[in-house]
Amino acid sequence: MKITLNDVSFEYNGRRVLKNVNVEFETGKIYIVVGKNGSGKTTLLKVVSGLLEAEGDILVDEMPADPLTLRKNVGYVFQNPSSQIIGATVEEDVAFSLEILGLDKVEMQKRIKRVLELVGLSGLEREDPLNLSGGQKQRLAIASMLARDTHFLALDEPLSMLDPPSQREISKVIENLKRRGKGVILATHELEYLEDFDMILHMADGTIDFCGSWEKFMEQRFEDVEVPFKWKLWKKFGRESRWEVEDADTFNERRWNKF
Ligand SMILES: Nc1ncnc2c1ncn2[C@@H]1O[C@H](COP(=O)(O)OP(=O)(O)O)[C@@H](O)[C@H]1O
Ligand SMILES: [Mg+2]
Repeated sequence: MKITLNDVSFEYNGRRVLKNVNVEFETGKIYIVVGKNGSGKTTLLKVVSGLLEAEGDILVDEMPADPLTLRKNVGYVFQNPSSQIIGATVEEDVAFSLEILGLDKVEMQKRIKRVLELVGLSGLEREDPLNLSGGQKQRLAIASMLARDTHFLALDEPLSMLDPPSQREISKVIENLKRRGKGVILATHELEYLEDFDMILHMADGTIDFCGSWEKFMEQRFEDVEVPFKWKLWKKFGRESRWEVEDADTFNERRWNKF
């Protein structure tokens, strides 16, 4: 599936915060959206998810799409997971988000089990979400959206409130979504643990002033983006390198193989 934005603009109280945005999102890919606070990342994600109605043309597989169609195809996960969690238990929270789909009980239970497994929350079905850690809440918010089985997920800074181990976990969950064929649109400042992404979008003052591959991105200099040290290593040694999990021996071995 493909979502295309043609000259899309959005204003809050007469102030334009998205300005003639042109971009295309496909399933099976991860799009990272970067840019400083206030540049329009959240607005873009909400427009793509059909939570805000914008001016301009939005197409789903080349057909004009209204916000309702977008909502069916794109699940939006809020920046603060607590604002999305409504169930008294983990299980119930996922069940709530499935309610509008009108599934039978068996199918519903199956889905809940599957998504909790996928995000690594199995065993916590009966837990009160309030007792979960920040990382677990974030995973629950993703699971609840994932259960709706939309083609795309728009994740709004899912890593921002997490410690490094949780950031790494969620990054792996996100890469897993891609492997399952989902399209992921990810607004984030935390780039450290993401490895398997496809495109980077840079936003500035309501416009997308860069959209391209990681290689192209590295040729640019965006002062508002903190490029992980790892990316500099990738640039030198190739992106397939997995530096952080390698011990010194395999590092050296790989290095020798290169020369
Ligand atoms: N509910 C709102 N009402 C009015 N202005 C808003 C609202 N939400 C965001 N804005 C403004 O829109 C601009 C883009 O915000 P946002 O999309 O949240 O950027 P980002 O996610 O990159 O920080 C900012 O200038 C922000 O102040
Ligand atoms: Mg934001």
